[in-house]
Amino acid sequence: MTTAPRYADDFADRYDAWFTPSADTTEATVGLLDRLSRSVPPGPLLELGIGTGRVALPLAARGHQVHGVDAAKSMVEQLRAKPGGDRIGISIGDFAEVEHEGEFAVVYVAGGTFFELTSQEDQLRCFARAAGRLLPGGLFVLDAHVPEALVAKAGAGAQPVQSANGDPVLRTRRVHPASQRYVSDYLVLDKGLFRHVRVAFRYAAPGELDLMAAAAGLRLRERYGSWSGAAFDDSSVMHISVYELPA
Ligand SMILES: C[S@@+](CC[C@H](N)C(=O)[O-])C[C@H]1O[C@@H](n2cnc3c(N)ncnc32)[C@H](O)[C@@H]1O
Repeated sequence: MTTAPRYADDFADRYDAWFTPSADTTEATVGLLDRLSRSVPPGPLLELGIGTGRVALPLAARGHQVHGVDAAKSMVEQLRAKPGGDRIGISIGDFAEVEHEGEFAVVYVAGGTFFELTSQEDQLRCFARAAGRLLPGGLFVLDAHVPEALVAKAGAGAQPVQSANGDPVLRTRRVHPASQRYVSDYLVLDKGLFRHVRVAFRYAAPGELDLMAAAAGLRLRERYGSWSGAAFDDSSVMHISVYELPA
């Protein structure tokens, strides 16, 4: 039984204000997921780690039936309070298990959330369970950092992060290559008080993710260097990997 991440328990009501990516990033994410879901036989979508609904709500507004899984009731309460939030079917639980009922055209993980599964075992199980929820020809889509870029950026020290409400946010990342883990520490100046938010991750290279996919019966269909659909190449710092369940 997975417990909600500490940041969700402590700061769900300020999560959007501090950590929402740019509107362009969200629009690109929704656009690519919309296009991908129209390229496969029709069916509902399932977001793992749905959070406050940044991606799920605009997808639902485009006419998709969207479901989600999240460990944090506090995050889901934020989603429920937004327009259309009552129309998303949500299970509270560990997204490595993908216990949500039903079969889906697309199962997806966005916002760097897949690496919040902090062991290879959990990541492998997530691939297998996601594959088990897909309709024939369905897709499992995730975004992730390229490890080399992660390591290079971690050496740059504390980085300012653009928050949606303008509160100053600084992030440091410590990377532990021996265990393929990294920890992000955020320092937020919130009404004159410093708040500390820590998130732990386990990273994996694209090739390791492809092997996990193969073990789950999935194969790589496409890989992009951004949600906008940029080519994945030597300069890419992240990737969007699109795995398919052969029909
Ligand atoms: C960084 S937020 C991203 C939310 C959303 N995907 C987005 O892009 O805006 C990650 C979400 O995943 C949830 N989460 C992290 N680990 C989880 C796990 N093992 N099982 C279920 N939810 C988890 C957190 O509670 C949080 O709501």
